[in-house]
Amino acid sequence: MSQIRDLTARKLFLSFYDGKLENNQKVTLEGWVKSHRNNGSVGFIEFNDGSYFKNIQLVYDKENPNFDVFSKVKYGSSIQVKGKLVLTPEMKQPFEIHVDEISLLGDCAEDYPLQKKKHSFEFLRDIAYLRPRANTFNAIYRVRNTLAYAIHKYFQERGFMYVQTPIITANDAEGAGQVFHVVNDFKHPEAFFNAPACLTVSGQLHVESFAMAFRDVYTFGPTFRAENSNTNRHASEFWMIEPEIAFADLDDDMDLIESFLKYIIKYVLDNCKDEMQFFNNFIDKGVIDKLNSVIASKFVRMEYTEAIELLKKAVENGHKFDNNNIFWGMDLNSEHERYITEEIVKGPVFLINYPKEIKAFYMKLNPDNKTVAACDLLVPKEGEIVGGSQREEDYAKLQAKMKELGNEKGLEWYLNLRKYGGCIHSGFGLGFDRLLMYITGMQNIRDVQPFPRTPGSLKY
Ligand code: 4AD
Ligand code: MG
Repeated sequence: MSQIRDLTARKLFLSFYDGKLENNQKVTLEGWVKSHRNNGSVGFIEFNDGSYFKNIQLVYDKENPNFDVFSKVKYGSSIQVKGKLVLTPEMKQPFEIHVDEISLLGDCAEDYPLQKKKHSFEFLRDIAYLRPRANTFNAIYRVRNTLAYAIHKYFQERGFMYVQTPIITANDAEGAGQVFHVVNDFKHPEAFFNAPACLTVSGQLHVESFAMAFRDVYTFGPTFRAENSNTNRHASEFWMIEPEIAFADLDDDMDLIESFLKYIIKYVLDNCKDEMQFFNNFIDKGVIDKLNSVIASKFVRMEYTEAIELLKKAVENGHKFDNNNIFWGMDLNSEHERYITEEIVKGPVFLINYPKEIKAFYMKLNPDNKTVAACDLLVPKEGEIVGGSQREEDYAKLQAKMKELGNEKGLEWYLNLRKYGGCIHSGFGLGFDRLLMYITGMQNIRDVQPFPRTPGSLKY
């Protein structure tokens, strides 16, 4: 390895936390200037090399013959620094670097859009190619990375097999008609694949076929929805985690959701301490307590029918929803979901057994013939973050449902899974970006994705 990449801030911080950081050692680091002030006799540079969330303070003084050269190093530029690492137990930062040499690697022009002041999230969205350097976004993308790792870790440690389901598909897995079409030649849209092609809205149907061979599986990848709803929680491209478990009913599914969520939230709290403290201080006061209480709580399970009764009662008692017309059979709006989780349960709640008319075709019909074995997990401030269900394993019932909806064509294989050694099975989909919003307290899905895609916006 070239000497230049040998040492990182991460290595220094980790050895500090291990109690092994050597005082007065000579170090060489490359990174960026996060702030720079100079009072004429001493200069301070907040320095970050990207490997760790916290900055390192560089200090130089008048005794250094290059004091005047160093004092011209600009905010935003990339530098190499050589110096002596000094432990500073009496100060806020655990150590600092007393500078011998600074070499400018890349200067930063005066018109740098990311100035050292508080920018609005809207403005930062507009400079999405620079915002990973802004503190908030640096923290978000680090948590995003750790969360993705925790998800794989949870499943891999429990024997779930990771399946890479296709992105181009011929099926609308949710049957909601919100697909983006994939067209190579507009005059002959179906010529390329000899079939109409679209971007996947969910990997579920494909991953079900793997569950019938490997028992416990999951897919974790990008999904696409052409919903023209301009909300803070909908993106046209988002990532979804979709486990599928064989020989499992809706209760098993909810047990898995609950155990999985608690594990990954705890993993982030344990492994992103600095980032989570940052969110707790600057984005969502109390978010750490909120997450700890989620880990400690038992998720409530409530029938859809009961939720409707409670919403009706709320309206009778004068609660004003934008939509006050509550009736059994309706699809709940976000405001209704939030009322249930925030005002009634005051924590995460599974709503179960929804009317069959408002849920996807593949869900298991309950013995009442009116509801399906579905569960949505609702959380405060956010509403739905997980949608799951037991799948219809009965060939005849599923076929009848698909006939009714007219979506059999191209999905014969999916139906056949019920014919060739099918079994009861269940699964769910967790919106990765929505979960990240929940964990960080960020309010807009555009601010937790690296380069968000939403209706009317495709910059970068
Ligand atoms: O409830 P949904 O539509 O369920 C499915 O797609 C099933 N196939 C899942 C399964 O059982 N395997 O979507 C699942 C989750 C939602 O709860 C939400 O968190 C997220 O995906 N989601 C979105 N996230 C961001 N932007 C959008 N437009 C989203 N639509 C759904
Ligand atoms: Mg849903």
